[in-house]
Amino acid sequence: MSTEAGKQAAAREAALRVEAGMRVGLGSGTTASELLRALAVRWREEGLRFVGVATSERTSSLARELGLELTDLEAQPELDVAIDGADEVDPARNLVKGGGGALLREKIVALAARRRIIVVDDSKLVSRLGEHFRLPVEVVPFGWRVTAERIRALGLVPQLRQAGQAPFVTDSGHWILDCVIQPATDVVEVSRAVKGVVGVVEHGLFPGSWVDELIVGSPDGSVRARTR
Ligand code: A5P
Repeated sequence: MSTEAGKQAAAREAALRVEAGMRVGLGSGTTASELLRALAVRWREEGLRFVGVATSERTSSLARELGLELTDLEAQPELDVAIDGADEVDPARNLVKGGGGALLREKIVALAARRRIIVVDDSKLVSRLGEHFRLPVEVVPFGWRVTAERIRALGLVPQLRQAGQAPFVTDSGHWILDCVIQPATDVVEVSRAVKGVVGVVEHGLFPGSWVDELIVGSPDGSVRARTR
C-alpha cells in the first residue's frame, strides 16, 4: 500500500482514454511515467497505435525506450488529449505543477490539447495550494536575483532550485525559483502578477478550468475519475 500503487492505478485508468490514431500529449514525472508504461502495454498487447508529444526530454527518452511513436507540435499543433500528473490539486482543481521542472513544456502541450486529463494519487489532493509544495517559477538565468526580489515583493518566498552544487537547468535552459506560498496568499491572483515580472518565463499554476478530467488513485488500487 503506497502512493506508487495509487499512481499506477490512476495511470492505468488514464491510459484507457487513449484511442487509436489519437495525438496525445505525454506528461512528465513519475505518474506520467506509469502512464507511458501502461500505454506501452496497450501498444504491445492490443496493437493500439497513436502518436505522442513529450513534455520533457526525460519523457521523450522513456517513450522511445518503450517503443512508442513520438511527434512534435510543429508536425501536430493540435492534440486530442494531454495527460499529465500534478504536485498539488485544490478543491477547484487548480494545480501546482513543475516538481520535475517541466512546467513550461507541460503548459504549452496542455494548451495545444482539446482535452486535458490530470492523473494523481490521493496524496496530491490539498485544501489549499502550497500546503505541501512550493510554486515553481521558471526564470531566465540572466539577472535572476533581481527577478527573485520582484517575486518576493509580491508576497512569495523564492528559493533557487539546485541540482547538487549547481542550479537546476530546465530543458529550455532556464532556472527554477521554488516559491513558498503563504497561507493567506491568493495563489491564482499572485501567479498572474508573477507572470508579469520581467525575467519570468512561466509559473507552475495551472487553472482548474483547464482540467477536463481528474483521475485520482488510492493506495488500495481503487480509482475515482471525475469529469467537469
Ligand atoms: C513535472 O514538471 C511535474 O509537473 C509533474 O507533473 C509533477 O511534478 C508530478 O510529478 P509526480 O507524478 O512525479 O509526482
